[in-house]
Amino acid sequence: MKHFSAKIFLLLQPIVLSAAPEFHRDIAPIIHENCSSCHRPGQAAPFSLIDYNQVKKRAKQIVEVTGERIMPPWHADHGVVEYANDRSLSSNQIDLLRKWFEAGTPEGDLTHKVPAPVFPDGWELGSPDLEVAMSEPFVVPAQGKDIYRNFVIPLDLQEDQWINAIEYKPGAPQVVHHVLYFLDTSGTARKKDLEDAAPGFSGFGSVVNQFRYLGGWDLGTQASVLPYGLALKAPKGADLIIQVHYSPKGREYQDLSKLAIHFADKPTSRPWTILPVPPMFGILDGIDIPAGEKEYVKKNTFIVPVDLEAFRVNAHAHYLGKRMEMTATFPDGRKEWLLKMSDWNFAWQEDYQFKKPVHLPAGTKIDVLISWDNSATNPHQTNHPPKPVRWGPQSNDEMGTITLSVMLDTQEQKDALHQSVKVFMAAQAVRRAFNGDITTLQHARAGGIQIPDSTAQKLLVLAKGLDFDQDGKLSEIEVNAGAATLAPHMNGVGAIGID
Ligand code: HEC
Repeated sequence: MKHFSAKIFLLLQPIVLSAAPEFHRDIAPIIHENCSSCHRPGQAAPFSLIDYNQVKKRAKQIVEVTGERIMPPWHADHGVVEYANDRSLSSNQIDLLRKWFEAGTPEGDLTHKVPAPVFPDGWELGSPDLEVAMSEPFVVPAQGKDIYRNFVIPLDLQEDQWINAIEYKPGAPQVVHHVLYFLDTSGTARKKDLEDAAPGFSGFGSVVNQFRYLGGWDLGTQASVLPYGLALKAPKGADLIIQVHYSPKGREYQDLSKLAIHFADKPTSRPWTILPVPPMFGILDGIDIPAGEKEYVKKNTFIVPVDLEAFRVNAHAHYLGKRMEMTATFPDGRKEWLLKMSDWNFAWQEDYQFKKPVHLPAGTKIDVLISWDNSATNPHQTNHPPKPVRWGPQSNDEMGTITLSVMLDTQEQKDALHQSVKVFMAAQAVRRAFNGDITTLQHARAGGIQIPDSTAQKLLVLAKGLDFDQDGKLSEIEVNAGAATLAPHMNGVGAIGID
């Protein structure tokens, strides 16, 4: 016990003995490092936080938002998983800000004054190897439904290249909801563009299926370079297609999106892909949230079929998303968090990069829990009064998925992983069909999934036939029997579902 209190005394000592925090010595480094990149002219934040007067003026508010961990924006729960790009403050930094405020915001000794931080102008990742833009602006009307529009951007590559970063800048950030990138080497996208008089061409699912998925951008994502020497192949002559999801916002906007592309000097160090649980943003998960429900929960489990290493995780839902949780249970029974988010915020979507790659041996169980709050008291509620919400592509529909980015040793492992994802989706389709959930199956078809029968109705009949023991429900074995038959037809899951 004595030993213990001595330790506490040592811990307390520096705080007790040191004088009150001062701006130039103690506070400016925290602000410059963690706040000024956004809180400066021309950036997303509504005011600058760089010099003494700017920070002093808002000191009280700063203490509040840092104390509640609202700022800097970082929505994974604090202290659960270590991420390399974690931008949250330490408890010590939060305490220092509070103490400085309580001491009356002293400016302190001017000899400690440091120059204002310098930020690269323009692109966050520095100057790119290739800068491209939409060929003409797209007009987003003031009112109406959300728009999914695809734009073809020729890259004019004279030889095959390996891309290791794409940075995106919306021309009208007010109305751009998210963007997906694809590559086309067939000329199909150019043809579709020509057939459509307005800039680009419309459609969600057909694009998702046909072209090679390259990644995407969501509101709030920090730009990053692929780690560990990973890269994506961009063949000579390939066109970049960007699928932009626009949400009209009450006045007309013109969008001219720009992209900065960085090339690696070598091919990818390893095969890699994405592992979304559930796949295709949850299109087959049967999301159907009753009006007013405070917490609607969906759970999914995916068993990893081959050894792999996860290097980042990302979650996606719309406004009503609440909890986003992913754990790995290893074959030896050990369990580890991969993502824990208790308060999903649509405005801040992030690629959470693991500090070290997480090895997930074959047989690891990935459990995902996603929940939504469709009550009137949810501040992000879009319907007043609340109404039932299902899966759908509009931003006031819902989606829900958590996606790992994973590295493998061989192409065969990657193929095996993709095969398992197809079986997983086929099993979801079988369950939906057995429950008579025709709306979900119709959505899946609209999303481009090639459920083989010409109508979703036929699948319903097929699914009923899987109840071999006729006990009125489908056992795991019965689901799997159906999924095995259906899986080869899930080709359409292509792009977003699996790379
Ligand atoms: C990644 C960009 C980013 C970073 C980093 C960031 N902010 Fe912000 N901040 C914003 C944006 C954008 C807003 C506007 C409100 C919103 O969209 O959430 C904001 C709003 C605020 C507000 C007003 C909150 C309100 O309720 O109106 C305060 C105060 C604030 N930030 C303080 C800070 C402090 C202090 C730091 C660093 C410790 C910081 N921010 C880091 C982007 C950022």
